[in-house]
Amino acid sequence: MTHQELREEILRLKKEKNALIMAHYYQRDEIQEIADFIGDSLALARQAAKTDADIIVMCGVHFMGETAKILCPGKKVLVPDMAAGCSLADSCDADDFRRFVEAHPGYTVISYVNTSAAVKALTDIVVTSGNARKIVESLPADEKIIFGPDKNLGGYINSVASRDMLLWQGACHVHDRFSIDKIMDLKKEHPEAKILVHPECRRPLQLIADKVGSTAALLEFAEKDEAPEYIVVTESGILFEMRRKCSSKRFIPAPAEDSECQCNECDYMKLNTLEKVYAALRDEAPEIHVDPEVAAKAIRPIERMLELSV
Ligand code: 13P
Ligand code: SF4
Repeated sequence: MTHQELREEILRLKKEKNALIMAHYYQRDEIQEIADFIGDSLALARQAAKTDADIIVMCGVHFMGETAKILCPGKKVLVPDMAAGCSLADSCDADDFRRFVEAHPGYTVISYVNTSAAVKALTDIVVTSGNARKIVESLPADEKIIFGPDKNLGGYINSVASRDMLLWQGACHVHDRFSIDKIMDLKKEHPEAKILVHPECRRPLQLIADKVGSTAALLEFAEKDEAPEYIVVTESGILFEMRRKCSSKRFIPAPAEDSECQCNECDYMKLNTLEKVYAALRDEAPEIHVDPEVAAKAIRPIERMLELSV
């Protein structure tokens, strides 16, 4: 099938099956183009919670599909490629995390949404990069908190919210490998450019940023700000929506430290293709399943997040 035929078939099947196609900002451009809804992790969770579609096609990674399934147990949730995992979620094994939590009684457990359902089931409140600061600041200043699994996001929240949360030492293989030297070189070439940094990046990058925020927050900043150029220090899929929303501005992707390429992509996110979205809708597979016992525990901290971040 040609690209155009694929798009038409996807739109036809979507209507016929009352399906909703959701895409994270890191998805391939052609998937963002056909999606009904594009957003960051928080927006995807919120949208999943309120949709009346029968089928959700979650064009993102596995934990995003799991979160949607936990919020909508009666719906069919499809992820076009089940191998679309997440190195950050993988850096937090549920058994290891359980031992860590048990070793620190009296601590409130906050987990980033980039975790397995089994880790969420051990958690008191889930957060995303879009609401982590607000949620942590809503807790008493002396509350003892475990924050997992992203050490860079946890360190950022500790610094801006003046907390001393105990951090799990996980990281994302995309955000943890941006090079400050390469970004400073880009800044010399583009002195007027503002630097936009995702909080999963390391501390030195957070310190040189004009804005630190979730993908949606970086996009919003670029839309409202006056600068003509931006160096974008997150997965380069976000540039599609930035260019679409701010056509007069220039967005420069930031390279990874060990790469010849001029951008930094998440291989997991890029596993989803238009062909796989079509096949998922046609076959209603591969489908996300979450163990009901795990889901019953994991839904509480996700709902708590949604309540605390309205
Ligand atoms: P946000 O969608 O919260 O910006 O997180 C980025 C990310 O790494 C998703 O996998
Ligand atoms: Fe996970 Fe990083 Fe990919 Fe996001 S960019 S899905 S945190 S590996």
